[in-house]
Amino acid sequence: MSDMTIAVLGGTGKEGSGLAMRWAMKGYKVIVGSREAEKAITRAAEMNEQLGGEFLTGASNPEAATKADLVVLSVPYTAHKATLEGVKDHLSGKILIDLTVPLQPPKVRTVHLPEGKSASLEAQALLGESVKVVAAFQNVSAEHLGDPNHVVDCDVLVCSNDAEAKATVIKLVEATGMRGVDAGSLANAIAVEALTPVLLYINKAYNIKGSGIRITGI
Ligand SMILES: NC(=O)c1ccc[n+]([C@@H]2O[C@H](COP(=O)([O-])OP(=O)(O)OC[C@H]3O[C@@H](n4cnc5c(N)ncnc54)[C@H](OP(=O)(O)O)[C@@H]3O)[C@@H](O)[C@H]2O)c1
Repeated sequence: MSDMTIAVLGGTGKEGSGLAMRWAMKGYKVIVGSREAEKAITRAAEMNEQLGGEFLTGASNPEAATKADLVVLSVPYTAHKATLEGVKDHLSGKILIDLTVPLQPPKVRTVHLPEGKSASLEAQALLGESVKVVAAFQNVSAEHLGDPNHVVDCDVLVCSNDAEAKATVIKLVEATGMRGVDAGSLANAIAVEALTPVLLYINKAYNIKGSGIRITGI
């Protein structure tokens, strides 16, 4: 599996860069995507320096999506639709991992359901059935993700209508050191995405950073 090429669109940001580094360390070919190719190249070089090797490359979002076998979308919800429209033509037949949380600033600690009920359902509707959309990582805080030596001991709920794609993504979750849990069809991402504002509330209420979830009984 490690010969797979993964593009992380918005991989210059907090959440995407942490995941990109963790996959790169496990031997996956990772392309950091950005609206500006130069920004992606610079960010990839910074991560390579942090990791001590030539693990990641950078490219514009469309170029990264074209070159990749699997694409991860890691941009704020406000940029979700436009970013997808910009890469749509390069995603057919591929898995798209959508980790977008449809937060509505400034009330980021209150659940907000978007028009399509969830960001990942909106992605599937926009991209059509030729793209295997998988929702994952929405409940994983970026707080410790960027330190690849830090063990992030939370679970990642994985939702998709495509069982094979879901199994592939659960393996990718495990490559990051977290546990992937099959959480059902893409419709269930409505609940998963809605958990993140709850976690943001918990962070504030308990004066902590980066609360996460853990499923018992498995
Ligand atoms: N941060 C967390 O703890 C966390 C946890 C779970 C889920 N998430 C979700 O993960 C996604 C990314 O979060 P993040 O914290 O990594 O976000 P971020 O750092 O604010 O942004 C990620 C990247 O998105 C691109 N971007 C930002 N604003 C944009 C805009 N207006 N239009 C187009 N592209 C834009 C930027 O890349 P370029 O400028 O290089 O194009 C940026 O580096 C979000 O949907 C968030 O809800 C975050």
